[in-house]
Amino acid sequence: MKREKSMLLIVFLFLSSLINQNAYSKEKEDLNFPKGFLWGTATSAYQVEGGIKNDWSKNGLDAGKAANHFEEFDNDFKIAKSLGNNAYRMSIEWARIEPEKDQWNQEGVDFYKKIFKSLKKHGLKPMVTIHHFTNPIWTEKFGGWENKEIIERFAKFTTFLAKTFGDDIDLWLTFNEPNVYALKSFATGDWPPFKKDRQITLYVMNNILKAHAEAYRILHEFDKTDADGDGIACEVGFAQHIAVLEPFWVLNPLDHLMTYFQNKVFNEAFWDACTTGKFDLFIPGLKSINEPFNEKLKNSMDFVGFNYYTRWFIKANGDNVPNEKGELTDMKWEIYPIGLGKSIQLANNYAKKRNLPIYITEVGLSDPNDSKRGKYIVTHTKSMLDEIKKGSNVKGFMFWSLMDNFELADGYGPKFGLMTIDRKIKPSAYIYKEISETNSITEKLAEKYLK
Ligand code: GAL
Repeated sequence: MKREKSMLLIVFLFLSSLINQNAYSKEKEDLNFPKGFLWGTATSAYQVEGGIKNDWSKNGLDAGKAANHFEEFDNDFKIAKSLGNNAYRMSIEWARIEPEKDQWNQEGVDFYKKIFKSLKKHGLKPMVTIHHFTNPIWTEKFGGWENKEIIERFAKFTTFLAKTFGDDIDLWLTFNEPNVYALKSFATGDWPPFKKDRQITLYVMNNILKAHAEAYRILHEFDKTDADGDGIACEVGFAQHIAVLEPFWVLNPLDHLMTYFQNKVFNEAFWDACTTGKFDLFIPGLKSINEPFNEKLKNSMDFVGFNYYTRWFIKANGDNVPNEKGELTDMKWEIYPIGLGKSIQLANNYAKKRNLPIYITEVGLSDPNDSKRGKYIVTHTKSMLDEIKKGSNVKGFMFWSLMDNFELADGYGPKFGLMTIDRKIKPSAYIYKEISETNSITEKLAEKYLK
């Protein structure tokens, strides 16, 4: 009888442990990313390399030595690898390759060849941007992006890159943030050529779209080599900047109207045009853009790529302000992880129509004492994971940036890096390492940052 009792007790304990285990695993969320997910950091040539002479250096925004990546690239990639990364986003500086019109600089080619060799050695898949805000000085002579001559020049440059580096690159971005570039350089006058003309801004957008369409076809024509043996020779897209835009005052219909227009022009116009092949824009007070159908522009994205940083509230007069009640960075950008999820949803509207993958090409913050970055990384990757689970095919995430660097018109003030310019690795880098190395948000991180 005693034996039977103890047997019963054992069976009872065993069964209840099963039930408990079940309850636990039901509670535990799966925080793994899809197999083969790309984890990387993002940089741009002018912001990190140093020693570049282009339209920025000539016009008062000289990056000087920048982060001296020109000399330190091999060690930088070693560090990126040690952080568990398997990808790296960078750009090729046009002025290094074609410093004078039609003169192709062998030294520049050799430099990038060394870069790609080093990336390969460290197991980092390159994602390469062709235009990241800067231009060779000679393009100023004909008015740069204001003049349609730039389309042919950009096409020539792209052809050269495809033929020279096709063996090294499978993932191409024609442009970084064409919306931000057009706005800052031609509407707000912050970046070269410092124009403040909204009508010209629209013409520039049009030229960029045509240049993108040409580049898309050129890359597919001349890059037929599969650099990493995954069966895909060449995928082309661009890095759109998505800002979550919401009306300042929900009860003001004029705030809603302005938000609607800004969403159309800033967030959606480029993706719409690259999907439909039509570029139409109506903005009150400006001459509308109504381009004929462009066959080359239609479906000119193999993936939907975007950079996300923050959310803005839009006022009827067009001003944008951050959410003062939210957590802000030193640049007064709101830290808003849900916004990444919302941006993925917007990207997915385009991606799902043609079964395209999505790449997050930049996410990051300036955080001088690295006190917010760790949590930021965990909450943003979680927001991305939630969308993946809902069905968005996100295939990679590039954190801006590997090291502190030349933050454009703000110079060296803001600090976006996982390491300092003298290569001190910041604590938050180890959080990114934990995520990329395990391809998951570990229980430890979830416990600490997601509760
Ligand atoms: C992006 C841009 C990068 C970087 C980052 C931080 O808009 O692509 O070049 O500067 O912002 O501001």
